[in-house]
Amino acid sequence: MANVKLNLIAAACENMGIGVNGTLPWRLKKEMAFFTKMTSGVKDLNKKNAVIMGRRSWDCIPENYRPLVNRVNIVLTRNVQQIEQRVPQGVLVFSSLDEAVKYIESRDDIESTWVIGGSAIYKEAMDHEKCDKIYLTEIQNNFQCDTYFPSFDKQHYQLVEEDGIPTEAQVEGDIKYYFRIYKKV
Ligand SMILES: NC(=O)c1ccc[n+]([C@@H]2O[C@H](COP(=O)([O-])OP(=O)(O)OC[C@H]3O[C@@H](n4cnc5c(N)ncnc54)[C@H](OP(=O)(O)O)[C@@H]3O)[C@@H](O)[C@H]2O)c1
Repeated sequence: MANVKLNLIAAACENMGIGVNGTLPWRLKKEMAFFTKMTSGVKDLNKKNAVIMGRRSWDCIPENYRPLVNRVNIVLTRNVQQIEQRVPQGVLVFSSLDEAVKYIESRDDIESTWVIGGSAIYKEAMDHEKCDKIYLTEIQNNFQCDTYFPSFDKQHYQLVEEDGIPTEAQVEGDIKYYFRIYKKV
């Protein structure tokens, strides 16, 4: 894959919160299914997508759901050797986003690259020259959070639509949200 584009994907509530106590502040089955579909879906069935996450986000995924199936899982940490011993075989561990990008570029079987959090990783990815789009689920309710999606200057992004991604409000229980796509310009 010669030219990596970084896609960020996150769900944030009204105060831009994304997490609390090492977990998600909400349970949204359809939103989770959207995440799985977007990060797993490939046009070329001989390829897979890569997901890049911080070490704490890795720790947050329940053990029976990790590594995330049908995706190349990449974990970022400053303690590579220690974390390499903890993760299952096949999970890649790097000490920086750039190292992960270089690795992905060295493979020709990775179709798209998804940055899946948390805060600092999102920030680095959105400031990266290879940042392309932010897929942000905007939850219209407030939750108590201790981890936040970084603020970004919407002047540098254009709201776009994509086939198959609904623009109308989604409702699960008493929670309402929108799937928004911000393309960096
Ligand atoms: N709503 C959403 O869409 C969403 C998405 C993802 C996560 N979350 C939530 O967010 C929380 C976890 O996110 P978080 O922000 O606390 O942590 P995180 O970004 O997942 O992980 C932080 C860790 O990543 C490593 N790291 C960070 N920047 C790095 C860099 N530049 N180079 C190398 N390693 C780096 C460090 O690991 P070491 O300490 O090992 O060095 C750091 O402690 C949880 O509550 C989770 O449920 C929500």
